Amino acid sequence: MSIDAPIIVVGGGIAGLSAALAAAPAPVLLLTRRPGAVGAASTLAQGGIAAALGAGDTPAAHARDTCVAGSHHNDVAMVELLTASAPAAIAWLQAIGVDFDRDGDGRLQLGREGGHDRPRIVHAGGDGTGAAVMRALVAAARAESRIHRVAGCDVDALALRDGRVVGVSATLDDGRQQRFDGRAVVLATGGIGGLFPATSNPADADGGGLALAMAAGAAIRDLESVQFHPTALAVPGMHSLPLVTEALRGAGARLLDRDGQPLMAGVHPLGDLAPRDIVARRVAAAVRDGGAWLDARHIGAAWPTAFPTVLAACLAHAIDPRLQPIPVTPAAHFHMGGLATDADGRTSLPGLFAAGEVACNGVHGANRLASNSLLEGVVFGRRLGHWLAAAPSTRTSGGEVEWVGHGRSLSPPALQRLRVLMGVAMGPVRNGAALQTALLECDALAAEGWQAGLARTMLAAARQRRHSLGAHYRDDDAPIVAPVTAA
Ligand code: SIN
Repeated sequence: MSIDAPIIVVGGGIAGLSAALAAAPAPVLLLTRRPGAVGAASTLAQGGIAAALGAGDTPAAHARDTCVAGSHHNDVAMVELLTASAPAAIAWLQAIGVDFDRDGDGRLQLGREGGHDRPRIVHAGGDGTGAAVMRALVAAARAESRIHRVAGCDVDALALRDGRVVGVSATLDDGRQQRFDGRAVVLATGGIGGLFPATSNPADADGGGLALAMAAGAAIRDLESVQFHPTALAVPGMHSLPLVTEALRGAGARLLDRDGQPLMAGVHPLGDLAPRDIVARRVAAAVRDGGAWLDARHIGAAWPTAFPTVLAACLAHAIDPRLQPIPVTPAAHFHMGGLATDADGRTSLPGLFAAGEVACNGVHGANRLASNSLLEGVVFGRRLGHWLAAAPSTRTSGGEVEWVGHGRSLSPPALQRLRVLMGVAMGPVRNGAALQTALLECDALAAEGWQAGLARTMLAAARQRRHSLGAHYRDDDAPIVAPVTAA
C-alpha cells in the first residue's frame, strides 16, 4: 500500500458523506451502490434533526431525553458529545446549503416528536428533511475535488495485511470484481431493516457491512437492539414501507383501533407521543386484532406543505389522509447495535472505522430518541473524517494480503423465509421459546447465505438478554428478584 492510498468510505448516506467531506483534505474514495442520493436510508428520513436551539433548551436537556429514551443503556460521554455538537452540526448543514424550515418571524421552526420534553426538531421541506440534507451533501461532495466517487459498487470483501484493514473488493454492476487499496476503510453501510418482513429502510439495508466486519473479527455490541417504528404505511405485500412520520403525532394526529377508539388512551401518560417501543407494541397488538390507523385529517390544508412526502406516499396507494385515517403497522426502523466504535469511529480492527447506523458507540442506548439518527451521522461522521485527515498514514509491511468476505448470499426464497423468522422471533415482542425456535431454523439456513449467519448472531444476542431493555421487550421477562441472603 502506498502512503497516498486514499481513505475508502463505503456508503453514500449522511454518515458516509459527512465523513468523506471532513476527510477530504486527504484523497477519499467513496464507494456506493447507487449514484447520488438514490437508495440511501438517509434520503427517506422524514423526521428532522434534533438540536437544543430553542429558548431555554440546553444540550443537557437533550442529553437527558436521549438517555431516558435509551433506558439509560447509553454511553453518557457519547450522548453529551452528540447533544453538545448538535447546534454546530445544524450550522454546518446550513452553511453547505440546507434550508431548514422557518416560522413567520424567520426563526428556525422547531417541531416535537416522541420522547422530547419540548419542541426541538428542525425540518427541511416539511417531512422531506432527509432528502433535503442529502441533496446538499451530495452537491458538496461533487464539488470536492479530493473525493472520487465510484457508484455501482457492492463491497463484499475486506483486505487485511498483518492484521490491518488495507482495502476492499467490490462487485461492480457489470459483475466484474474490483479491488481498491486504502490507508483506512470507513464502513457507513447503514442498518439491518432488510432482514425483517416489513421495514422503513431500503430493502437492501441488509447488514452487509456489519457481516463483513464481523467476518474479519471486528467487535460488535448490542446486536439485539432493534427499533420498530410504530407507524409505517400498511401496504399489503410490500416489504420496504413508506414511513408515516412521528411528527404527525407531534402535530396532534391520533392513533385509532379498528373501532375508531384512541389506541394509546390509558397506556402511557404521553399518549400518542409515548416512547416509540411502547407505541410500536401497542400498534402491533392492534394490527393483530384487526388493524391500526393514524387519524391526521385535522392537518387539512397544511398537508401539501407540512407533510408532502407522507401525502404523496398515501395518495400513491389510493389513501387520502385529508379525508380518511391512514392504515399503519410497525416496521423495523433502526439498529441501535452494531460494530463497536469509540468516539472517533475506530473499530477493534486497525484500519477499519465505522459511522452511522452500522456503528454502535453507545449513543442511542437501548432505544434511539426520535430525530437523533441524522444528527449522529453528521456529528460522528465528521468527527471520524477529521480524525482520519489528521492521522498519520500507516505503511504496512509487505506481508501477504488476506481477503475476508461475508460469503454467498441467500437465494430470494431463503431470504424471504429468514425475514419471516425474524418477524416472528425478533419483532417488537420477543420470548425465549420463539428465539430458540428461530435459532434452530437459522442454523439450517446459515450454510446457505451470510444473512442467516448475521441473523443467528442477532437472535443469540436477544436470547442471551433475558430481561427487557428498551426496544428489546421480552414477554417472558421474569421480574428480577433480589437474592435471598443468609441472616
Ligand atoms: C419519523 O419521522 O417518525 C422518524 C424519525 C426518526 O426515526 O428519528
